[in-house]
Amino acid sequence: MDSELVLVIDFGAQYAQLIARRVREACVYSEIIPHTASVADIVARKPAAIVLSGGPQSVYADGAPQVDPALFDAGIPVFGICYGFQAMARALGGDVARTGLSEFGRTVITVDEPGRLLADVPACFNAWMSHGDSVHAAPAGFTALAATQGAPVAAFENTERRLAGVQWHPEVLHSEYGQRVLSTFLHEIAGIGSAWKTAAIAEEAIARVREQVGDKRVLCGLSGGVDSAVAAAIVQRAIGDQLTCVFVDHGLLRKGEAEAVERDFVAATGAKLVVADAKDQFLRHLAGVTDPETKRKIIGREFIRVFEEQARALDSEADIEFLVQGTLYPDVVESGGGEGAATIKSHHNVGGLPDDLAFTLIEPLRTLFKDEVRQVGLELGLPEAMIWRHPFPGPGLAIRIIGEVTRERLAILREADAIAREELTKAGLDRDIWQFPVVLLGNVRSVGVQGDSRTYGHPVVLRPVTSEDAMTADWGRLPYDVLERISTRITNEVREINRVVVDITSKPPGTIEWE
Ligand code: XMP
Repeated sequence: MDSELVLVIDFGAQYAQLIARRVREACVYSEIIPHTASVADIVARKPAAIVLSGGPQSVYADGAPQVDPALFDAGIPVFGICYGFQAMARALGGDVARTGLSEFGRTVITVDEPGRLLADVPACFNAWMSHGDSVHAAPAGFTALAATQGAPVAAFENTERRLAGVQWHPEVLHSEYGQRVLSTFLHEIAGIGSAWKTAAIAEEAIARVREQVGDKRVLCGLSGGVDSAVAAAIVQRAIGDQLTCVFVDHGLLRKGEAEAVERDFVAATGAKLVVADAKDQFLRHLAGVTDPETKRKIIGREFIRVFEEQARALDSEADIEFLVQGTLYPDVVESGGGEGAATIKSHHNVGGLPDDLAFTLIEPLRTLFKDEVRQVGLELGLPEAMIWRHPFPGPGLAIRIIGEVTRERLAILREADAIAREELTKAGLDRDIWQFPVVLLGNVRSVGVQGDSRTYGHPVVLRPVTSEDAMTADWGRLPYDVLERISTRITNEVREINRVVVDITSKPPGTIEWE
């Protein structure tokens, strides 16, 4: 890859990942490093520019991370954001003080002197702020560019030294012209080109796998989700028939999902696929079980059993050396690992393989964000339904059936869920809603009336949620007409269901899934 590298130094804000993504959206490759990295470590990576992220602390707080002033003498362009802006001001001899006026949320930015950084934005615009301290005087040699009510210096630059910064958060969507300001810094002030493209990502990932694997054999478990599918597609492109994919059909996927793996994925990639039909085995072990944690444990255990059986059979047939893992960049960052130790996601399909089945991991998505994974998947021609699938839990529909999981209940829930998903898609709301579980209350019945006769059927719960990361969530405000269509269709088309309710609980206190 010819793209130059931008390092985002993480001062502990939740925004570092977002900044790294925005840098990539400006077609520049970026990685995140902790603020504890030394200037020597940073310089050794030969970054084309550095972005200092926001952070939760005051620059004056005890133990607050500081910026080593030597960083600014290395000749590397630096852009400071929020806390990074203040730390930069302080390290360069500017004046940072507590004004008593904190600004949180939408704030009006007034541009006094556009300079280069703000040359392409209006004289007045809204941006997202989150600060207590503010910069009162720019460091010597810097031009103060903008101000807000609470921040006398809200942006500054020194184009000669290729250093600039802003008090607001240009990376968040609520900040107007945020991407433009970031792009101006990267391309105009730092002088970086636009070489990072998703087509190049796919090519590079394919080349890397080819080099790592040589003529050895590789195994990949498919879950039906986007990560494992894209990882497998990359490896397939790289080494063709040396890859064998295994799909454990536990019978707990939604309507059409097993088929998407068995038929559409194979058609799109030409991958060699072994399907382990374990539907009966899972149902047998789940019979009579109602406790959510017990369900999860049984499913995790049986999954490993089936996958291990398949892996052993394939390994004895032809020695397998590698296992593909769909680890994404956020997993790598969150587990604190930049280099070295491979982190195994807690996803149950590989976490528990026994030691004597030791494979070396291949992680072709290790440097990518979810939206980049989707782009690569589209470029490799994977089915859209797989690419845009909402997150779906490993234990599948089993934790969306309250009560015992049976074949009949699975069939009922599958139909109701398919209707809800279809109507959501028709309404064009797939991207607005993070996840849309439909939950079958298997042990509850209520009285209803249909035609001339009394019914005694089950309710289903619609659980649309909006979220950024599934850690917190809000209930999704679906339009009434969409809810009405879903309700009418489910009660008309799924005979066993006579009542549809909507879950309006946020997370916390409610989780997204019901079990
Ligand atoms: P909760 O229900 O805890 O879910 O709000 C948060 C996110 O995690 C997913 N989830 C799971 N994913 N195995 C998984 O792979 C599981 O056992 C599991 N339980 C919950 C859930 O769908 C949501 O995206």
